[in-house]
Amino acid sequence: MELYIGLMSGTSADGVDAALVQIGSDISDVSLVKMVSHSFSLPERQSILRLCHNDTATVEDICRWHFRLAHLYALAVEELLQAAGVGREQITAVGMHGQTIQHLPGEGTLQLGNAAVLANRVGVTVVHDFRSADMALGGQGAPVVPFFDQLLFGGGPETAAVQNLGGIGNVTVVGPGAKAVPAVAFDTGPANMVIDGLVQRFSSGQRTFDDDGRMARSGTVAWDVVKMLLQHEYFAQEPPKSTGREVFGSAYGESMVAMVALSEADWLATATALTAASIAQQYRRFILPYTDLQRIIVGGGGAKNTFLLDLIQDYTKLPVVTSDSLGVPVDAKEAMAFAVLAAANRRGICAGVPMATGAARAALLGSVQHPTPV
Ligand SMILES: Nc1ncnc2c1ncn2[C@@H]1O[C@H](COP(=O)(O)OP(=O)(O)O)[C@@H](O)[C@H]1O
Ligand SMILES: [Mg+2]
Repeated sequence: MELYIGLMSGTSADGVDAALVQIGSDISDVSLVKMVSHSFSLPERQSILRLCHNDTATVEDICRWHFRLAHLYALAVEELLQAAGVGREQITAVGMHGQTIQHLPGEGTLQLGNAAVLANRVGVTVVHDFRSADMALGGQGAPVVPFFDQLLFGGGPETAAVQNLGGIGNVTVVGPGAKAVPAVAFDTGPANMVIDGLVQRFSSGQRTFDDDGRMARSGTVAWDVVKMLLQHEYFAQEPPKSTGREVFGSAYGESMVAMVALSEADWLATATALTAASIAQQYRRFILPYTDLQRIIVGGGGAKNTFLLDLIQDYTKLPVVTSDSLGVPVDAKEAMAFAVLAAANRRGICAGVPMATGAARAALLGSVQHPTPV
């Protein structure tokens, strides 16, 4: 039995989720011990989002935040260890995803968060930079979570779609039918990114998300707009494919609201329908021609938006369950995945999934930073 910590701060830039995970000698023997979420303050979030765009990022800011994020991650690790009553010497390694500020499939990817700062502050080995090795082998460098999804959700008799609802949506097909699908995992498009962008715009930055989809539920979906938005070239692109803030970020949101005049509630309903309809469309195009799906297992912050889940169920005609019901809290899922990926790295297991990323072979994911011995 070993203890690992996974740290995830995703494209929503809402904060960092830290999960303490116990992993057996069989890497699929995974159980969550404790998790904490450390939210970024509004100014922190705004600064991080500014790093993602050419017109708002300065080289100086990128340099500064590379270290600043590592300090924020260290606070999350310290808080987690304290909450769990576990000493740092008991931790084999921390898996730190870092904050993606740019992801350019085929060209490069950059996650901020300096590993030497984190390793030396908390006194634990850090595995980081989980995407570069896959890219070096010709892959997209994303998604990297399918290894975890298959381990945790793929053991049973059913074929299911594990759908993450972070800033971006990603799906992994798990179970017996997965073998028949040419691209076993890919990014489905925006999940919360467009919704969050609209909420911030309408609340002048005071709110960052539509709690439980309440505002969207009170609006009416403008179907002609959804149909038009589904024409976006990303949705037509064949997997392997991955996307991010570069494609569905603030510029996309701005161009969307400039299209037609709708009330705020109707815009939120329409953006939420876009997420659900794009997921249904992507399954129809790239998964369902090859295998049936018995159900959809959702995780990530968007799994707390019951309006979004209702629409996904409506449009796909498939039962939707949250990963909570399978013992993996929706908030902890991605952080747990990076604990498992850190374990894979330390054990020499190549956790890249070529059928998801398009890499020539399964990559050994992550770089290792040890702390300075005392
Ligand atoms: N109670 C909630 N109701 C609706 N949406 C929520 C709720 N809680 C979180 N979210 C959404 O989930 C997002 C964070 O999800 P997360 O899985 O952390 O994504 P990421 O990996 O991109 O950071 C938030 O930005 C928000 O859009
Ligand atoms: Mg997050």
